[in-house]
Amino acid sequence: MIEITDLRKIYNMGNVEVKALDGVTIDIAKGEFLGIMGPSGSGKTTLLHMLGLLDEPSSGKIVIDGMDISKLTDYEKTMFRLYKLGYVFQDYALVPDLTVMENVSLPAMLRKDRTEDQYRRDSYDILQKIGLYDRRDHLPRELSGGQQQRVSLARAMVNNPDILFADEPCANLDTENSRVVLDLFREINESMHQTIVMVSHEDWHKEYFHRIVRLRDGKIVSDGITAPSAT
Ligand SMILES: Nc1ncnc2c1ncn2[C@@H]1O[C@H](COP(=O)(O)OP(=O)(O)O)[C@@H](O)[C@H]1O
Ligand SMILES: [Mg+2]
Repeated sequence: MIEITDLRKIYNMGNVEVKALDGVTIDIAKGEFLGIMGPSGSGKTTLLHMLGLLDEPSSGKIVIDGMDISKLTDYEKTMFRLYKLGYVFQDYALVPDLTVMENVSLPAMLRKDRTEDQYRRDSYDILQKIGLYDRRDHLPRELSGGQQQRVSLARAMVNNPDILFADEPCANLDTENSRVVLDLFREINESMHQTIVMVSHEDWHKEYFHRIVRLRDGKIVSDGITAPSAT
């Protein structure tokens, strides 16, 4: 599904070179729920940005669904993101002046192949799934952090992407709300077979992951299947 080969990203800060990614190779299977863990500054976000086509590597190769993404034009990348990928960020990144329903509909509206009826139905369905249908006319600031992150997950899911990327989605949530959000990710992974790549720095999150890649200084220090969780 995702093949990453010898990926490198070097930032030039004046005359200092920062190797944010220093030769990362990972194969991610379809339907896998992969956790990327590691200390702050280890390259987790950089890796997710490369995989999510939000930034370009300095060298190395990423193949998604048999497609070498470095060969895509900017327009093709935009379409690829819109149709195949979903993103959830640490800070929710909802549009403050739009309602829950409007926020969730946005990526569906950007697609040219959906009628208004279709994307409204898709948005309602996913809002029901995440349990916020009755909040659809609220503004983001009227919701708790956990609810906002669920809206952001609904927005990422509305186009039914093959792959879901999440960068520390629970960083601003307490344990209880984190569990609600992580349980939703798990449910989506199990019922809809989305491939999920999630960055996390919280050790207890590892019970949710099928496999964990640990980074340090832009290198993989371990890559392993996790034991089935007890929950
Ligand atoms: N845009 C950038 N310009 C310069 N350095 C960057 C940039 N983004 C990240 N870095 C550096 O790359 C390294 C990895 O950062 P990052 O991927 O954000 O780590 P993590 O998400 O694991 O905390 C850090 O040393 C960081 O300072
Ligand atoms: Mg980060």
